[in-house]
Amino acid sequence: MKGKIALVTGGMGGIGTAICRQLAQQGAVVIATYNRGGDHLAAKAWQEEQRQQGYEISIHYVDVSDFNSCQTMVQVIHSQFNCIDILVNNAGITRDVQLYKMNLEQWQAVLQTNLDSLFNVTRHVISHMIERRYGRIINISSINGQKGQFGQTHYAAAKAGIHGFTKSLAQEVARKGITVNTISPGYIVTPMVMSLSDEIREKIIAQIPVGRLGTPEEVARAVVFLASEESSFITGSNLTINGGQYLL
Ligand code: CAA
Ligand code: NAP
Repeated sequence: MKGKIALVTGGMGGIGTAICRQLAQQGAVVIATYNRGGDHLAAKAWQEEQRQQGYEISIHYVDVSDFNSCQTMVQVIHSQFNCIDILVNNAGITRDVQLYKMNLEQWQAVLQTNLDSLFNVTRHVISHMIERRYGRIINISSINGQKGQFGQTHYAAAKAGIHGFTKSLAQEVARKGITVNTISPGYIVTPMVMSLSDEIREKIIAQIPVGRLGTPEEVARAVVFLASEESSFITGSNLTINGGQYLL
């Protein structure tokens, strides 16, 4: 993986940070995207924190729910780094609410950030990968796209949609040296899960056979595996990392 250019959307979040660090450890040149509501100083502070811990990671602003923002980001990265070898579509949000109370803004925000984002980013990356006949694309879905979840009709629909995207694109680019895979994490210790109430979180942990939440590092290890040159015969697949909470 040495010298490969890796773009990680949501690279400053809980899982994203672990992915960036592990890819960097393997010798990849890593670019973490951020949104942070446009708070560029907060993004620079994250970058500095990584630097102090020995990780040199480039950063780039993007709104993954916006096609034009993604186009601009990819154009700038291509001009700076020449190519993107590894794309991790990781950015995502939750807006948990039952359907009968959900408003259009909540539905659209979740679908646009978790699913449209795959089109918005990958569309601008894929042509260069095809030209160069190499690429690794890893899409981060969720256990809740597989099993459904009370309060997540929008999130589960978006995360389930990722499987169709992955399997279709995998077929389109299989002969071009590009693999496309999905990872479906279960409940992982990140702000997304830690913002749930203690009571809800305890109920969730009780449903996990391993008896605990997963760690971002456990997800990142799988990303590194699928991003490596060696996993060239794995494409269109879905890797579940959920402590046994949902078994297909
Ligand atoms: N199954 C069945 N009924 C449930 C339920 C469940 N899982 N959760 C709540 N209810 C019921 C309650 O018992 C209550 O019933 P009564 O009215 O009969 O007493 C009713 O729903 C309460 O409904 P409200 O809409 O008023 O509840 P609320 O607004 O307080 O909360 C919720 C609803 C926001 C969905 C809340 O239950 C919640 O946050 N649940 C957790 C959802 C979850 O797991 N999100 C994952 C976030 S992390 C993530 O998404 C990462 C990932 O990919 C894994
Ligand atoms: P997180 O810490 O909240 O990180 C989410 C990331 O998404 C943040 O870095 C955020 O960027 C980015 N993001 C959100 N909206 C964006 C937008 N419009 N444009 C660009 N970036 C945006 O959550 P996480 O747990 O690490 O989640 C990472 C991925 O894993 C998500 O796709 C999530 O659905 C999935 N997942 C998480 C779990 C879990 O249990 N934690 C389980 C299964 C799947 P900024 O912070 O810069 O705004």
